[in-house]
Amino acid sequence: MPKATAIAHPNIAFIKYWGDADPELRIPVNGSISMNLGSLHSRTTVEFDPGLALDELTINGRPPGDIALQRVARFMDHVRNLADCKTFAHITSENNFPMGSGIASSASGFAALSLAASTAAGLELDRVELSALARRGSGSACRSVPTGFVEWYSGQDDATSYAESIAGADYWNLRDCIAIVNRAHKETGSLAGHSLAGSSLLQEARVRDAPRRLSLCRQAILERDFQSFAEIVELDSNLMHAVMMTSQPQLVYWQPATLAVMQSVVEMRSGGMQVCFTIDAGPNVHVITIDEYSTSVAKKLEHIPGVNEVLASSPGEGTRLIEN
Ligand code: DP6
Repeated sequence: MPKATAIAHPNIAFIKYWGDADPELRIPVNGSISMNLGSLHSRTTVEFDPGLALDELTINGRPPGDIALQRVARFMDHVRNLADCKTFAHITSENNFPMGSGIASSASGFAALSLAASTAAGLELDRVELSALARRGSGSACRSVPTGFVEWYSGQDDATSYAESIAGADYWNLRDCIAIVNRAHKETGSLAGHSLAGSSLLQEARVRDAPRRLSLCRQAILERDFQSFAEIVELDSNLMHAVMMTSQPQLVYWQPATLAVMQSVVEMRSGGMQVCFTIDAGPNVHVITIDEYSTSVAKKLEHIPGVNEVLASSPGEGTRLIEN
């Protein structure tokens, strides 16, 4: 039976995706830039089986809840449409990071699923088509397809909204030290959050200025200019959280320890270290630094009350097939 296995890394956004122009196709209102996280991965196997009456899914050895299953089944229907096939599949996915760690597995999960499912279905997609396919499962998943440092062009339709690599994983020795302050699942995940973005008065200003921030961030990466990078990354994260906090209803993801980590990062930077923070739709803080500071940054973070653990990662490769 046709079968394929793929591996993909999650990514951390430096310029954030928040809000959709087309929620059905996940066409974002602004472009975004991210880095794949090489130490974390999802490994997904898809095996089509004519004997099945529905898709079967296990994540880390267990059947997921109904919402996750429906989301994957819809995605598989799209793949079946593209491949003109009617067969259901066994899908098994494993993450090497705990589901309850507060690190979203949807980006790496849907990137790996896109490659495994399209390959097993006999589709030969190029990297651009594969990125656009992953986007249909989870917006940020399109950024886990290319390698290293990645930009997602917002585009206007299914074919023009995809991500491409700006620089390879070895280009810049950045490290992400993720300060885990809460392992619990978010009450309002990014799925519901995107639809609230437009209810904030600040979203229009955030989106209007996005091309400028994208260009500054891209340039800072290409020039390995940490100071400019830190400035634009923190500004972009604060802008997104300002939109979240002023949405109706308000979305406040920060916890006291989140703010304690942010303050500590600013202090470390004043002390001369190359370090900055960025925060997604949750309370955990991604502390970005460079290789030479990463051990001392991680140690400092571990001592902040409320920080449960620190996961460190270097830049990662793109989505790829592996032996079944
Ligand atoms: C805050 O890609 O998780 O992490 O398409 O609904 O799966 P869905 O949303 P998702 O949104 C990511 C939001 C973010 C910012 C980012 O990664 O750019």
